[in-house]
Amino acid sequence: MKISASVVAQMLGSWDAGPGPAHQRLSDRLRLLVLDGRLVLDAALPSERDLALALRVSRTTVGTAYRSLADAQFIDTRPRSRAVVRLPDDPMPHRRAASSAPTIDLSFAAPAAPGPILHRAFATALERLPRYFDRRGYERDGVVELRESVARWYAGRGLATRPNQIMITNGALHAVALIARTLVRPGDRVVIDHPTYPHAIRAFTDARARLVPVALEPDGWNAGQLRVAGRGAAMAYLIPDFHNPTGQCMPARVRRGLELECPIVVDETMADLAIDLPRPVAFAADHPDAISIGSTSKSIWGGLRIGWIRARPSILNRLSQMRPGTDLGTPILEQLAASVLLDSLHTHLPDRVDLLRAQRQALYNALAQHLPDWTVPIPPGGLSFWVALGDPISSRLAAIAPDYGITLAAGPRFGIGGAFERHVRLPYSLPEEDFAAAVEQLAAAHRAVLRGERGKHKPSTVA
Ligand SMILES: Cc1ncc(COP(=O)(O)O)c(C=O)c1O
Repeated sequence: MKISASVVAQMLGSWDAGPGPAHQRLSDRLRLLVLDGRLVLDAALPSERDLALALRVSRTTVGTAYRSLADAQFIDTRPRSRAVVRLPDDPMPHRRAASSAPTIDLSFAAPAAPGPILHRAFATALERLPRYFDRRGYERDGVVELRESVARWYAGRGLATRPNQIMITNGALHAVALIARTLVRPGDRVVIDHPTYPHAIRAFTDARARLVPVALEPDGWNAGQLRVAGRGAAMAYLIPDFHNPTGQCMPARVRRGLELECPIVVDETMADLAIDLPRPVAFAADHPDAISIGSTSKSIWGGLRIGWIRARPSILNRLSQMRPGTDLGTPILEQLAASVLLDSLHTHLPDRVDLLRAQRQALYNALAQHLPDWTVPIPPGGLSFWVALGDPISSRLAAIAPDYGITLAAGPRFGIGGAFERHVRLPYSLPEEDFAAAVEQLAAAHRAVLRGERGKHKPSTVA
């Protein structure tokens, strides 16, 4: 796949800020784009001349950056052909964490399992499993017990639902990818919140969609801009309830008044994590044609790998036809356990929400103490702070963070075109006792970036 100079320039964003020679900053930023998966393997980069023109720098700058990437085995160069992206066997051979303490992972916004509750649910699921022994185990749309439990979950959120409006998936991301593969054709426009959930960006990009970002301002969604962006689009993918990464919740007034000409897909993976507000009414209560995605990953545990889609049966039929392209159904035992867990959510969710409230406060306090110049808006729910750093240093901070014993998801992962270099997502889903050390290490990494030190680490996966 050939990538044009203008697309690379857009991905690079504000690469030119910061200390060190320009060729070094350029090769650093290109390397991060490769490690992030934003510049995909085997992609053919623009010629030195074209990229130099697009970036308004000398050809020598681009040539030197390309040579250092080739030396580090991040690209293959051949005379008279485009440089091609590759990955070295060991992307960071010379770097070692400064301390031998285990790395604190601030790249995942996902809570640990509620151990005993999970254990009991699986015990009940095992008792129920023999009901399925005379069947083949391929339940493409999900077992009826779980579809009924999910329907009850929606009813509890103010939206009457029948089990035939539900399809069970292997987590919410599987649902996003299945929807993208089934309902988006190459070249279609898909409206997204900006920032948004990185793997959704990837799922829509893999479906060859053209993404239309609509900025999510600090004061929320702009209904007018969404309406304009939705004209002629194949769909809008929105995260109204405790948005990832900002934690914002779309006010009832805005969601009721939202008028889009395209289908709306809402990802309600975080909807149960209402820390300061009552749990919001399901989006489809106001928009009956909306396609809704849900998951047990944040309210219960990511390891269940259980998600679902709520849609009209005609849409579910199309999704169901498409599904065997990648998988043939979700494990039965996990579905039975998820059914037990969802039905008893009202008994264990309040504890989880109380814990998140305390963790949110602990991380906020540690940040106020060690990084007082950062701006940390407190979201009403969800799992993370979307922190404004002041300077455009997020990728550099994420690249150096492992040297200081932490992993981070840099701001640009949550957007397109190199946006959000001034932001970083910090999840408060870790145990409270980790935050003091995590933030001290983060502050040390921040000081290192301000001193001009460079990191070489591979950005980790996000959730
Ligand atoms: C908005 C959103 N959608 C989907 C997912 C993925 O969820 P699952 O683990 O159910 O695949 C996440 C996980 O962080 C998320 O934040």
